[in-house]
Amino acid sequence: LTIHGTYFSSKDPNHVQAVQDALIMIDSKGIIARILHRKDPEYAKQLQVARQQERLVELGADQYLLPGFVDLHVHAPQWPQAGLALDLPLAKWLNHYTFPLEAKLSDPTYAQKVYQDFVHNLLANGTTAALMFGTIHFSANMILAKESVKQGLRGFVGQVVMDNPSTSPEYYRNSSAQAALSSTEKFIHAVRDLQTQSGQTIEPVITPRFVPSCTDEALFGLGRLAHQYDLPVQSHLSESNWEHGYAIERFGQRDTEVMDHFGLLTKRAVMAHGTQLTKDDWRILRERHSAIAHCPISNIYFGNGVLPVKQLLALHNQLGLGSDISGGYTPSLFHNARQAVKSSQQLTDGVDNQLPAEKRGVAGSRITMANAFYLATRGGAAALGLKTGVIQAGYAADLQVVKMHRALMPLSTADIFQRLMYQTEQTDIETVFVNGQPVYQRN
Ligand code: GUN
Ligand code: FE
Repeated sequence: LTIHGTYFSSKDPNHVQAVQDALIMIDSKGIIARILHRKDPEYAKQLQVARQQERLVELGADQYLLPGFVDLHVHAPQWPQAGLALDLPLAKWLNHYTFPLEAKLSDPTYAQKVYQDFVHNLLANGTTAALMFGTIHFSANMILAKESVKQGLRGFVGQVVMDNPSTSPEYYRNSSAQAALSSTEKFIHAVRDLQTQSGQTIEPVITPRFVPSCTDEALFGLGRLAHQYDLPVQSHLSESNWEHGYAIERFGQRDTEVMDHFGLLTKRAVMAHGTQLTKDDWRILRERHSAIAHCPISNIYFGNGVLPVKQLLALHNQLGLGSDISGGYTPSLFHNARQAVKSSQQLTDGVDNQLPAEKRGVAGSRITMANAFYLATRGGAAALGLKTGVIQAGYAADLQVVKMHRALMPLSTADIFQRLMYQTEQTDIETVFVNGQPVYQRN
């Protein structure tokens, strides 16, 4: 396959590369083999060859190519309640909405219905790889893994562990730490078998829901499994004042120190939210090469604060972007990128509404759309160790073709990038490729 058109790709956390009229040549394994520019001596010939062999995708004048997005934190079973009950505090939202809904996924018929629609909606929003929470149910999690393979999403699926009776209701918790750990181990083997059979990216993920949900025994056992099988780890970390305070009360240590103590901060770990982390926590995460999934829409509702993305990028902490369905209401990382920029402009120190307007906010905290785009593509891919998220030779062809809204004035390529990032809706996403294969086509 060869794609002919203009593309945008993240160069580094601060810069976006725009290339006009490129020929992106994808090999039979789905990897970008070469990118030819107009000036290239072979350009005209290769364009003609691809045309003759009818393996050319020609982008229209208002169409642009972007890398597929990496959703670094999303709850698949919460898809049916996206947009609901966001006015509640986190603990109430979990107990009154989220746990009852997740418990229903024990029904395989319902799980199939939800996960089929969920995976389709991720792809339809330009997301080509996702680090997902499932539920505590082995069978439902396998349905999610199989649905990801079937529809072509690069899936990282976690079997949730929550065995602490003091924070998890009887109708939705693991019966014991031992039961949770042996079911997790069974899940690891089953997903690895699926990966071998399908030859696609589908990986099991060690998933303690968050520190409050788990007993010491479960946290210890999950840390051991993460190392034994060299698996990615995902959890929530210092998301809210409540969660941050909980760890200090139970362990006399911060959330990050507890996770680290149990061996859960690995170079393949992704911790969601982190709005309440201290600078010392940032340092621990850097030293362990663990990533933070920034979930800017969700954080507005449950985060009790704004993640200081600019400062974290400057310190070289690893960051990506997450939709956190359904703490966030949309699977669109376009929408989350917009919120990341907006939230960074409102970063406050908590008391600055008492200050004169010109003194509010934290100086030097504003991020650009190029920063947010980096999180949604390159940053997320790096956190998962994926060679994707960038339009460059040697990277997997995970791509989205988007249609720009009608331009009524001349636009530079820099303007076009802004416009695409600010205005693209699901209905503007026309084709999505994973590994060079079309996985979504708008009709
Ligand atoms: N903390 C523990 N579980 C959850 C969850 O499902 N969503 C969010 N946003 N935070 C959590
Ligand atoms: Fe979450």
